[in-house]
Amino acid sequence: MSWDPTGKVAVITGASSGIGEATARRLGRLGMTVIAAARREERLQVLADEVPGVVPHVADVTSTADVDALAARVAEEFGACHALINNAGVGGGAFDGRDDLDDALRTIDVNLGGTVRCMAAFAELLAASAPSRVVNVASVAGKLGVGPAAYAASKFGMVGFSEATAFAWASRGITVCQLNPGFIETEGFPQTQVKRTPAARVVGEPDDVARAIHRTLLDGATERTVPAWYRAFVVARHVAAPLYRVGASRIDRASGSRD
Ligand SMILES: NC(=O)c1ccc[n+]([C@@H]2O[C@H](COP(=O)([O-])OP(=O)(O)OC[C@H]3O[C@@H](n4cnc5c(N)ncnc54)[C@H](OP(=O)(O)O)[C@@H]3O)[C@@H](O)[C@H]2O)c1
Repeated sequence: MSWDPTGKVAVITGASSGIGEATARRLGRLGMTVIAAARREERLQVLADEVPGVVPHVADVTSTADVDALAARVAEEFGACHALINNAGVGGGAFDGRDDLDDALRTIDVNLGGTVRCMAAFAELLAASAPSRVVNVASVAGKLGVGPAAYAASKFGMVGFSEATAFAWASRGITVCQLNPGFIETEGFPQTQVKRTPAARVVGEPDDVARAIHRTLLDGATERTVPAWYRAFVVARHVAAPLYRVGASRIDRASGSRD
């Protein structure tokens, strides 16, 4: 069944910069009502002033009360949620021991905890708005275990949560996609280290992911990798583990997680 975005309601977390902002701009231009959530109110207001259909909403995804209030507002003011894009996220440093515990738990709480909170808060409205979409912006780091350990753990968690809910929620008319980007240059992920290496040319732009999210809304895919060629590493991880380890350790070094 074709899924026409025009006039539909989307909620995007982490919409104040990077991938979330690019996605809000793209979906707003398509004629969707876009509830753009994040903590930096002034950034959301600029976005709403520039893009018709964008509605700013301040929320911290680590707060269950904030996320429940977001869902309650969307239900009351807009009466539907056809697309939930769980994109809010933070990176993390290398995990070397006790000094890194708070940072690790915080990374997992924002990335995985925020996704779980949002899916819990919006489950009922998504079902009532079916056919509806959930797009969880995880990462290639959620398939390969490279880069900072807590970040990889948070993204592996998002991948598993997405895969299991994709099966469980299909009967309610909700598709759930794990959308896994590679290196994208944004404020939170400047890719400084990668850009100093010969791999610099693989660094993409936020709109590459926004385009993939748009495509996922249209086709209801349950998994998408951006760009798609990173999937070769994912396949190699399972079918050619020694080869994978050589490639993955190179990616790990390039990602700068040891700096
Ligand atoms: N860039 C990459 O290479 C890359 C690759 C794979 C996956 N990803 C994933 O893509 C997503 C977006 O990242 P990005 O690259 O676009 O980085 P970004 O520009 O730093 O954007 C991160 C967004 O998350 C929001 N955020 C952070 N903590 C939050 C919280 N506690 N509550 C609500 N919002 C919060 C930020 O807004 P406020 O600070 O205003 O709250 C911001 O809008 C993340 O999940 C990231 O893991 C990125």
